[in-house]
Amino acid sequence: MPELNLVLLGPPGSGKGTQGERLNADLHLPYYATGDILRGAVRDQTALGKSAKEYMDRGDLVPDELIVGIIAERIDSEEARQGFILDGFPRTTPQAEALDAKLGELGREVSSVLLIDVSDDEVVRRLGGRRTCEAEGHVYHVEFNPPKVEGVCDIDGSPLIVRDDDKPDVIRKRLATYHEKTEPLVAYYDAKGVLERVDGAREPSEVTDELRGILAAVGS
Ligand code: AP5
Repeated sequence: MPELNLVLLGPPGSGKGTQGERLNADLHLPYYATGDILRGAVRDQTALGKSAKEYMDRGDLVPDELIVGIIAERIDSEEARQGFILDGFPRTTPQAEALDAKLGELGREVSSVLLIDVSDDEVVRRLGGRRTCEAEGHVYHVEFNPPKVEGVCDIDGSPLIVRDDDKPDVIRKRLATYHEKTEPLVAYYDAKGVLERVDGAREPSEVTDELRGILAAVGS
């Protein structure tokens, strides 16, 4: 299989994590979700976690310099030689430029950017009902994707929690942050000819099928 360097782009709650898990199972590529990495650091009370927490809790992005090095290191690792799936990175133009620079150093480039498009109203509806596995970040929704046993992760049996940033006022702030800081990346990647838009306001399995179709074409 040719190298596949993938970026999942989209507003909070668009389904990046949901689809990322499925693509990860299909493609067996390392999956780097910066939100999960940062929440892990907060949980473990590392220096990164202590710096990141206040930004995350109010729905702001953490500063670029806190996250760029972490991703650069993973992309340059042995496990990512055949490619990777990025979820939540890049999120600003400087992050996208840093990703290009790192890949350029390695003689590589972004293969495809999958934009999962949903409206702000749908985001608010989804994040209000999201439940997240405390141990590994597996994602559920009380209505659209419930676990088999209420409050318990199907995959690893750990408790399902409401994320600190899934409160209504923080959700609105995260959406505003997305429109201001991350949405410009749509034009950035469109200009490079690697952007694919997918309507995310459908059943999760329909979205997955479309993503698989796109990736089959990219990988052939
Ligand atoms: P992060 O964890 O990346 O949050 P996010 O981008 O806001 O994305 P979410 O995890 O909220 O949503 P998602 O798109 O993965 O949707 P999901 O699949 O869960 O980042 C958190 C914070 O970390 C940021 O605010 C920032 O502070 C910081 N951060 C992270 N990366 C950073 C970076 N690069 N630079 C700076 N700061 C950074 O789905 C949502 C819900 O909808 C679930 O309940 C799911 O079950 C349900 N659902 C999914 N698909 C469907 C569907 N098709 N139909 C119905 N329901 C669905």
